[in-house]
Amino acid sequence: MSLLRRLLPTGQAVARRNMSGDVRTVTLIPGDGIGPEIAASVQKIFAAAEVPIAWEPVDVSPVKNADGTMGIPQAAIDSVNRNKIGLKSPLMTPVGKGFRSLNLALRKEFNLYANVRPCKSIEGFKTLYDDVDVVTIRENTEGEYSGIEHEIVDGVVQSIKLITENASRRVAEYAFEYAANNGRSKVTAVHKANIMRMSDGLFLRCCREAAEKYPQIKFEERYLDTVCLNMVQDPSIYDVLVMPNLYGDILSDLCAGLIGGLGLTPSGNIGTDGAIFEAVHGTAPDIAGKDLANPTALLLSSVMMLRYMDLYDHAKKIEDAAFVVIKEGNVITGDLGGRAKCSEYTNEIIRKLETM
Ligand code: IPM
Ligand code: MG
Repeated sequence: MSLLRRLLPTGQAVARRNMSGDVRTVTLIPGDGIGPEIAASVQKIFAAAEVPIAWEPVDVSPVKNADGTMGIPQAAIDSVNRNKIGLKSPLMTPVGKGFRSLNLALRKEFNLYANVRPCKSIEGFKTLYDDVDVVTIRENTEGEYSGIEHEIVDGVVQSIKLITENASRRVAEYAFEYAANNGRSKVTAVHKANIMRMSDGLFLRCCREAAEKYPQIKFEERYLDTVCLNMVQDPSIYDVLVMPNLYGDILSDLCAGLIGGLGLTPSGNIGTDGAIFEAVHGTAPDIAGKDLANPTALLLSSVMMLRYMDLYDHAKKIEDAAFVVIKEGNVITGDLGGRAKCSEYTNEIIRKLETM
């Protein structure tokens, strides 16, 4: 253990320099419920792995805007705009009332147009399939999530699914770029253009056009319902999947279910000028503050973030350590079938890091 680390209190976020002397600042959104505990776990593991980043924690408790709507505090917006990179724990979303989900507000505010969720089987954590390796890429700014809803007359409500060429094209191109950069061979566009002929039709056209620019990547088009059916029967037939917002929300959960759930699945929201990586499970208020939460999804999201920041060695080391601990199965949290507390699991990952 380095002298520096011994002199510092455990869990403290520390800026360390890498070989080239750069330390980058990352905005940290500790979130609600179990959020702060799992964020602290990631910070502790990063400190132990001597990752050359400094954390800038921000509070995103909603504030009232001038027009009376609730929104993200300006200090949090400024922090993400300055750092261009963030790590986020879950935030509470009101259901059917109250303010708009801040999870979505963040995606909109920073124009994080592509939501990337790799679902890869984790060795040692047994699920129905051993070889799942799919990536969902979801349009992240519009579709049914545009939030345009109104009551036409009493008892009749209309919700607008907004699809634009601009947003469809950039996510379609991102999917092919992702496939090309990550050694993937196929992109499947997931749609219901047989029913929503204009909106999904436009999305599909953008996918076809993007496909033409990447002749080395195989392209196919599939209906959403067919993909759901095939995915639970044989996930190995899919590789990278690209789709509009709501389909991506649903299908990414389905894929996460194939590898053990949202507690094990990372997620990245990618924009033109920055990115926010997040755990997409809930805030689990029932176990908040009890040191029982599983920090894996946020940790694997932070590993995605490190790769996005070109810190590949740190990413691999942390990922390997976490996977070894899960594979051994001796010190894992309750949701994974173990009895360890969040802090014990965190410390076990740190112990593994030190042997690498
Ligand atoms: C997700 C979540 C969010 C969504 C919720 C928390 C608003 O389910 O990131 O998949 O619906 O997009
Ligand atoms: Mg979801």
